[in-house]
Amino acid sequence: MNDMTTIDRTQRPYSAAAQAALARKPALFINNEWVASSHGALIEVEDPSSGKIVSHVVDASDRDVDRAVAAARAAFDDGRWSGLPPMVRERTMHRLADLLEAHADEFAELEAIDNGKPKGMAGAVDVPGAMAHIRFMAGWASKINGEVIQPYSIPDGAFFGYTRKEPVGVCAQIVPWNFPLLMACLKIAPALAAGCTIVLKPAEQTSLTALRLADLIAEAGFPAGVVNVITGNGHTAGDRMVKHPDVDKIAFTGSTEIGKLINRNATASLKRVTLELGGKSPVVVMPDVDVAQAAPGAAGAIWFNSGQVCVAGSRLYAHRSIFDQVIEGVAEQAPFWAPRASLDPEGHAGPLISKEQFDRVMGYIEAGKRDGASVAIGGDAPAVDGGYYVNPTVLVDVNPQMSVVREEIFGPVVVAQRFDDIDEVAKAANDTCYGLGAGIWTKDVATMHKLASKIKAGTVWGNCHAVIDTALPFGGYKESGLGREQGRQGIEAYLETKTVILQL
Ligand code: NAI
Ligand code: MG
Repeated sequence: MNDMTTIDRTQRPYSAAAQAALARKPALFINNEWVASSHGALIEVEDPSSGKIVSHVVDASDRDVDRAVAAARAAFDDGRWSGLPPMVRERTMHRLADLLEAHADEFAELEAIDNGKPKGMAGAVDVPGAMAHIRFMAGWASKINGEVIQPYSIPDGAFFGYTRKEPVGVCAQIVPWNFPLLMACLKIAPALAAGCTIVLKPAEQTSLTALRLADLIAEAGFPAGVVNVITGNGHTAGDRMVKHPDVDKIAFTGSTEIGKLINRNATASLKRVTLELGGKSPVVVMPDVDVAQAAPGAAGAIWFNSGQVCVAGSRLYAHRSIFDQVIEGVAEQAPFWAPRASLDPEGHAGPLISKEQFDRVMGYIEAGKRDGASVAIGGDAPAVDGGYYVNPTVLVDVNPQMSVVREEIFGPVVVAQRFDDIDEVAKAANDTCYGLGAGIWTKDVATMHKLASKIKAGTVWGNCHAVIDTALPFGGYKESGLGREQGRQGIEAYLETKTVILQL
C-alpha cells in the first residue's frame, strides 16, 4: 500500500471544457433562458482540493426566486408539459439522459472540481446514477394510472367511481452538495415524469453541474418554464422557495435541522413535503464473517465520498470475538481511501467540501478525544497548502453518550464498539434519533433476517453498504426523513389522487 504522507495534493490542471464552464457569466435559468439576477450579489465557487476560488454564480434574490416560481407556475397551469402525451414526456426525458451521457466526462470533471470528489468516482457513481434516475422515471411517465373502484354502500351500477392520478403542481427542489448532479436528477426525474414543473436550487457550495444540466434541459426540448434552475443561499433563496404561495410541493435533501425548519414553514399552506435528511447508520459485523471481506466493506461504508454520505456507516459494531481483527482490517484500507486532489487519477477519496465542514469534522474528533475516545487510526489532517483534507479516522473506546457516537459528523470518521449478542446490538443500533440505513455482515441467513427486521432504518444492507438503485424506495425512519424517493413510491410523491364519482 502507498504511504499516505508522501501524497502530492496539488490540484491538476482543468480541461478546456471545464474552463469554459467556469468562465460562464453568472446567470439564472428561467423559462429556458439565461437571465441576469435582479441584484449583483454573487457566490464564490471554490475548488476544495486547492481552496482556490475558480468561478462565481448568482446569489438569487427574492425577486429572482419569484420570477422562477412564476415561470414554473405558468408552465404548470397552461398544461404545456402535463398536457403532452406521456410518450412525449418520456422521450424528452430520454433525450436529456442521452445528452448527459454524451457529456459524461465533462460532468464528472465539473463535479470533481466543485465538490472535491475524485473524478473517477464521479464518473463511476454520480453521472451514471443521474442518468439511471432519469431513464427509470421516464418509463413511469407512460405508466401512471388511476383505478376503477366499486363503491361499497351504493347499489352496483348506480354510480361509477374511479381515480385519476394528477401531477401535484409546482415543485421547489432543494439539494445538497455531497452528490450535486445525482441529487438534482433524482429530484427532477419523478417530477417531470408526473407532469410537474420545477424550480431547482443546488447547494450554494456546488452549483456547477446543475447549471450545465440546465443547458441540456433546453437542448433536450422541454417546454420553457418546466425546469428552472436558480443558484443561491439556503436561508435566503431556499427559504423564499419554501414559503412561496405558488409552490405546491417541496422536495429537500440536506440536514435534519433544515429539514425540520422546512417542514414547519411548509405547514402554513400545507404544501406537500418529502425530506431526505441525516443519518448515523450502524454497520454490524457478526462473528461468523470472513473478516477479509467484511472489513473492507465497513471501511468503504464510512470512507467513500470522505464520509459525506447520508447513509455513511459511521457507527461500527463488531462482535467482541473479532473486534480487534475487524479494526485492523478496516485500518489496512486507510491508504486506499487517503484523500487526494480530485483530479488526481489515483484518488478514491477527496477533500471535504469546505473549510466549514473541515472545522466541524476536526471539532468532532477533538471532542471525541476530550470525552475519552482513542484514535485507532487517523484523527488528523495532512499538511497541505490549501484544501480541506482529513485522514480516514477510526475512534475506539467510545460510549453511547459521546457526541461522536450520537451526532452526524459527515466526514471520514467511524466510531467502533463491541457487542456480544444480536438483541444487544439491535438495541444499540436503534439508540439514535436517526434511521436512514444499516449494514449487516453475516453468513447466517436467519441472523440476517432477524437483524434486518429489528433495526429501524429505511434501508438495510446485507453484506454490502450504500448500494442504491433507482427502482428501490429510499428514505428515512425517525428524524432521517419523511416519505420515500425512487421506485414506485418516488413517483407517487409527485401525484395527487383525484376521486371521480358519477351517478349513472
Ligand atoms: P443544509 O441542510 O443547510 O443545506 C442543504 C441544502 O439546503 C442547500 O441547498 C441549502 O442551500 C439549503 N438550505 C439551507 N438552509 C435553508 C433554509 N432555511 N430553507 C431552505 N433551504 C435551505 O446543510 P449544510 O449546512 O450544507 O450541512 C450541514 C450538515 O448537514 C452536514 O454536516 C451534514 O451533517 C448534513 N447534511 C446532510 C446531507 C444529506 O445528504 N443528508 C447533505 C448535506 C448536509
Ligand atoms: Mg446549513
